[in-house]
Amino acid sequence: MPAPLIVVNCKTYASASGEALDRLLDTIAGVDSEGVRLVMVVSAYDLHAASSAHPSLEFWSQHLDPVGQGSHTGWLEPETAIQRGARGTVINHAEHKVAATHVEALLHMLDGRIDVCACAADEDEARTLAALSPTMIAVEPPELIGGDVSVTTADPGIVRGTVDLVKSINQDIMVLCGAGVKNGDDVAAALRLGAEGVLLASGVTKASRPAEVLADLIDGARRG
Ligand code: G3P
Repeated sequence: MPAPLIVVNCKTYASASGEALDRLLDTIAGVDSEGVRLVMVVSAYDLHAASSAHPSLEFWSQHLDPVGQGSHTGWLEPETAIQRGARGTVINHAEHKVAATHVEALLHMLDGRIDVCACAADEDEARTLAALSPTMIAVEPPELIGGDVSVTTADPGIVRGTVDLVKSINQDIMVLCGAGVKNGDDVAAALRLGAEGVLLASGVTKASRPAEVLADLIDGARRG
């Protein structure tokens, strides 16, 4: 059984970008995460400094474009992201949607070198993405993102349904859930529903004591 995943998406929160991210990571690096795979999904600006300063933490990119090195101004080119410490990427987040062809081309380009977590708003989108065989699919109902009610409470059926659907297409694809996840009980509930981890943001990035929140999330993952 792989360790349960806790994936913290820093988005563009001021509290989790630039110098504030440095401070957040210093705090987080001190939290005991044994038995859990903790991932920080940071801005492209922060990737290199964060991964250099904290080799014990795992970092992902928030997005990548399927472009090569060359004439591609402003795109997020994968080879440099990997060189700069990305061990995975999110793609097709609700806040940065792309076409299925983008996900397909990116998977082809990466060829399994780093993990790809494709986000799905619902089971229909999860079905489309599962056919492309990403490393994992994170189901996140957009209307619950940033809110105070966890998807595991508001819509446990979408978590269970997505797990069953994705596993029926490809057992090897991991399934995460996210939106409104705030505490250890939410993580434990996600694992009980069959998810292999959670994707969250504001629960950590807006917390006044992020290390305490993270310790509680990790405790929930161990209980789940
Ligand atoms: O990528 C995670 C995210 O969309 C969920 O955000 O703030 O509801 O945990 P949040």
